[in-house]
Amino acid sequence: MRRALLSPPACRDLRALRAAVAGRAVLVTGASSGVGEATALRLGAAGATVLLLARREARLREVAAQIEGTGGRAVVIPADLSDPASVDGAARVVLATAPVLTGVVSNAGRSVRRRALDGAPRADLERLLAVNVTGPARLLLALRPALGQSVGQSLGAGSVVVNVSSVSARHVGAPRWGAYQGSKAAFDLWMQAAVAEWPGVRGASVYLPLVRTPMIAPTRTYRRLPALSAAEAAEVVTLPFVRRVVRVAPWWLPGAEVAGIVCPGVLARGLAWAERVEARLERRA
Ligand SMILES: NC(=O)c1ccc[n+]([C@@H]2O[C@H](COP(=O)([O-])OP(=O)(O)OC[C@H]3O[C@@H](n4cnc5c(N)ncnc54)[C@H](OP(=O)(O)O)[C@@H]3O)[C@@H](O)[C@H]2O)c1
Repeated sequence: MRRALLSPPACRDLRALRAAVAGRAVLVTGASSGVGEATALRLGAAGATVLLLARREARLREVAAQIEGTGGRAVVIPADLSDPASVDGAARVVLATAPVLTGVVSNAGRSVRRRALDGAPRADLERLLAVNVTGPARLLLALRPALGQSVGQSLGAGSVVVNVSSVSARHVGAPRWGAYQGSKAAFDLWMQAAVAEWPGVRGASVYLPLVRTPMIAPTRTYRRLPALSAAEAAEVVTLPFVRRVVRVAPWWLPGAEVAGIVCPGVLARGLAWAERVEARLERRA
């Protein structure tokens, strides 16, 4: 029931994934935790050489050790996506290690749930735009020489860029989520437009529902909501390696998108009401 409600289509067949990625190089950003870590482990189990990028080198080394412990190959690339020099340095290491990339899983991301009217909204917005938009875009462009060159895989030649996005990038703006929703939607559209210009590169947007990872831990209301595990999310994220999909989403997402088109006013009023209730409860607490 939980899986039927939450789960987008997925690649549960490790043999199919093996046919697509074994012996090939795939970069996973945000591989030190959550969805990225689980995706890296799955790609490693399928025989890919997994390039692991994130800031925490010690965590990346643990993930690499797990991959290598099961006979796989992993390369650790510590980098901070919010720092352009660090992104350029990481891209140089990727190109030197793997001149041909079969895939990039653009997964690293940050979220913040905070009222835009409180604190330092510019800081939230700018921080999230750097990690969720400009850093990953800079990295992809720097990897141009390695993308589109891969040959002989089960789905045909070329490379796939998998953008790990969120269902929230597709529905109406929710109070306190503006910086996150805006940044996720911005990168998704940028990626779709960029790959359309790019010979030999196809893009896939994966709109994940809630996933039980460190990212959602600070949001108390999420603790009781149904969520995918990181391992289940990794099965969803790896689907574009075995099927030519451009969009992967839970079955109910189109309904939410249509509601945003058909009755945006009702939704906006409902969300504004929920925000007023939450703010009142916070003032009382
Ligand atoms: N969890 C959910 O419910 C959910 C739902 C929909 C979509 N998503 C998306 O799924 C992706 C993964 O999220 P998650 O839930 O797995 O979160 P997570 O466990 O917090 O992992 C986030 C990853 O991003 C990396 N990262 C953060 N800032 C970075 C930076 N400046 N430079 C390089 N790497 C950075 C982190 O590594 P370091 O800290 O080591 O740098 C970590 O590996 C995100 O794009 C998120 O938007 C999550």
